[in-house]
Amino acid sequence: MNTVLGNIVLETIKDRRSVRKYQNQQIKDEELKMIIEAGIYAPTANNDQPWHFTVIQNQKLIEHMNEEAKKSMQTSDVSWMREMGKNEKLNIFFHSPTVIVVSGRKTAISPLVDCCAAIQNMLLAAESMDIGTCWIGLAKFFFANPKNIEKLNIPEGYQPYYAVSIGYKTSPNNKGPERNKNVVNYIK
Ligand SMILES: Cc1cc2nc3c(=O)[nH]c(=O)nc-3n(C[C@H](O)[C@H](O)[C@H](O)COP(=O)(O)O)c2cc1C
Repeated sequence: MNTVLGNIVLETIKDRRSVRKYQNQQIKDEELKMIIEAGIYAPTANNDQPWHFTVIQNQKLIEHMNEEAKKSMQTSDVSWMREMGKNEKLNIFFHSPTVIVVSGRKTAISPLVDCCAAIQNMLLAAESMDIGTCWIGLAKFFFANPKNIEKLNIPEGYQPYYAVSIGYKTSPNNKGPERNKNVVNYIK
């Protein structure tokens, strides 16, 4: 049993945190390539591999996406979401130098689940290189407007689900939230 390698993987899984502060410096292309490679090696239903990754390193576009998402948040039915949208200090991507939008092929069996598996792989690959990431569900507010989706040149038939912010960390990871216990039962 290879517990040494297993422990390294488990440590990476447990050490990963949602990083919400980044250095301005762009990550290296080689690192980016490894992160995407981890994504495309995720398992998929029916081996559909129904994903598309839009790598955005254009700061103007990232800022535009942030502004558009916040505008849309201000029209939410949920009052705290409206308040977040009005928060001038909030940048939903935390000013990360790279944002990856993950889109799924609508005709696949379970594109959303498959894309989520790819995202988690990418977060872990980044952590293994000490690169920070955050899964950005709030990007949905940008995708809510079809005109915004057009700005991303996503292939026909694909739906953007989530974004991931990526960049070098400014400080070591904190401990992170405690995990709930008692979530397992065994049947032997
Ligand atoms: C589907 C999904 C959407 C998320 N969206 C956001 C988001 O928009 N902004 C954010 O700061 N964190 C977001 N997160 C990160 C969670 O807040 C975070 O994973 C959780 O608080 C646990 O912290 P940890 O990632 O450091 O373990 C999202 C996570 C998931 C899985």
